[in-house]
Amino acid sequence: MDQILEVIKTRRSVRRFLPDQIDRGEMERILDGGLWAPSGHNAQPWHFLVLRDRALLDDLARRTQALMAESPCEWVRKLASRPGYHVFHRAPTVIVVSSKAEDPESGVLSYAADCSAAIQNMLLVAESMNIGTCWIGLTKVLFDSEWDGASLGIPEGYHPIYSVAFGYKAEPSASQGPARRENTVTWYGEENGGPARG
Ligand SMILES: Cc1cc2nc3c(=O)[nH]c(=O)nc-3n(C[C@H](O)[C@H](O)[C@H](O)COP(=O)(O)O)c2cc1C
Repeated sequence: MDQILEVIKTRRSVRRFLPDQIDRGEMERILDGGLWAPSGHNAQPWHFLVLRDRALLDDLARRTQALMAESPCEWVRKLASRPGYHVFHRAPTVIVVSSKAEDPESGVLSYAADCSAAIQNMLLVAESMNIGTCWIGLTKVLFDSEWDGASLGIPEGYHPIYSVAFGYKAEPSASQGPARRENTVTWYGEENGGPARG
């Protein structure tokens, strides 16, 4: 299989990490992948806050869990009530990805899409080094609360949208990922697999 496709297909969300901190050089390579993502109009509208402080991560996890417990959404409340629940799965490194505030007049740009492209790049670079990752959306409850990300270094004009957990894998990932949903591709304009005709 094509090397990149193999990395794409073997990457799984990892939720059990070794406590060992990830090598700084490895994290820099992962971030480099994020920085080289495509972005609409080449806006590069992202900011990456790299958190590697165990006590701080545990505190953010506790605060997120408390907010999740108040969620109007039942499955979110249920998750928060699980014994030992930790939104970052106790990963030693977490990157908080922030998006520049959207220009309401641009209309065609999506900074969240640009940030998501950067995240996927980071997941794939990490997987290529056998480093485990988990894309975390549930921190939205924290980011949309009174949480002060600026005190940790998120620049003015940026709002955190996702976190990504990184760590060495505590166990090998499942060899097969979840089955792909069917009927999600439509082809138009080709006959018998040949080139499209005008
Ligand atoms: C936008 C987004 C948000 C996600 N949020 C969470 C999360 O908060 N916690 C978590 O454990 N996994 C989270 N995931 C991981 C998904 O659950 C996972 O990608 C999906 O179940 C498919 O499994 P796979 O990544 O192993 O292929 C998120 C993934 C995406 C793309």
